[in-house]
Amino acid sequence: MAKVTVENLTKRFGKVVAVNNLNLEVRDREFFVLVGPNGCGKTTLLKLIAGVLRPDSGNIYIDDVLVNDLKPSERGVRMVFQSYALYPHMKVYDERKYSNLTFALKIQKYLTDKIKSIVHQVAHEVGIERKLFDRKPNELSHGEKQKVAVGRAITIQPKVFLMDEPMSNIDPPSRVKMMKEIRRLHDELRTTTIYVTQNLTEGVALADRIAVMKDGTIQQVGTPDEIINHPVNEFVADFIKYYDYTAHLQTFGRI
Ligand SMILES: Nc1ncnc2c1ncn2[C@@H]1O[C@H](COP(=O)(O)OP(=O)(O)O)[C@@H](O)[C@H]1O
Ligand SMILES: [Mg+2]
Repeated sequence: MAKVTVENLTKRFGKVVAVNNLNLEVRDREFFVLVGPNGCGKTTLLKLIAGVLRPDSGNIYIDDVLVNDLKPSERGVRMVFQSYALYPHMKVYDERKYSNLTFALKIQKYLTDKIKSIVHQVAHEVGIERKLFDRKPNELSHGEKQKVAVGRAITIQPKVFLMDEPMSNIDPPSRVKMMKEIRRLHDELRTTTIYVTQNLTEGVALADRIAVMKDGTIQQVGTPDEIINHPVNEFVADFIKYYDYTAHLQTFGRI
């Protein structure tokens, strides 16, 4: 459980300012959604919070602790990347060897019995069937890969869970199911979650609060209702045309 505070954060790639003097506070236990067009800096912001990228300036706090100089593994943050980034040569689960679901636990030198009980619990929570345990990532569907990526991220209970467009490779019928699973998992674990999507309807269906991003800056932070009904500027007002009320009700339902 943790809050995340981002203070005057800037990250440049050459002349591109991917994240531009950005300020943000994500509350403890919140399901926070970041939306914005392609290239607005969403992935960069998540990577800065995860610690796989270093900022040019600014600060990141997790529960009021400055984490700028902490390694990714020391931050208590886990990220599910858009590409899943599973270990291709490893099985989903192997009791004795390194595998996708045991890797982090083995690195942290958990005992075999403990590993077994954690993995079975996680597999149950995320819905990874036992028949998938022996498979390698290239033998899994997109939906199955995504479940393993989510499962792997929660084996060591993170303080903060970062998800980068986790639905982008999932076919629409499975997408609704996965979204419900992710929201249910959040309601159960209450891990502070920052979830990135380009799909505003998906964001509205999932979020406690939403931030709309443009050109490395946050334009507005608010509840889904505030964003949709009270946009603060022209950019947000234009962006909400992508919100599909009918799809929200008919497809996503009440998530
Ligand atoms: N490793 C990188 N090297 C150079 N430019 C990058 C790199 N990563 C991102 N960028 C640039 O930074 C900007 C923000 O990218 P990104 O954070 O991936 O946006 P989003 O996830 O919102 O689509 C884009 O202009 C992108 O081209
Ligand atoms: Mg991205």
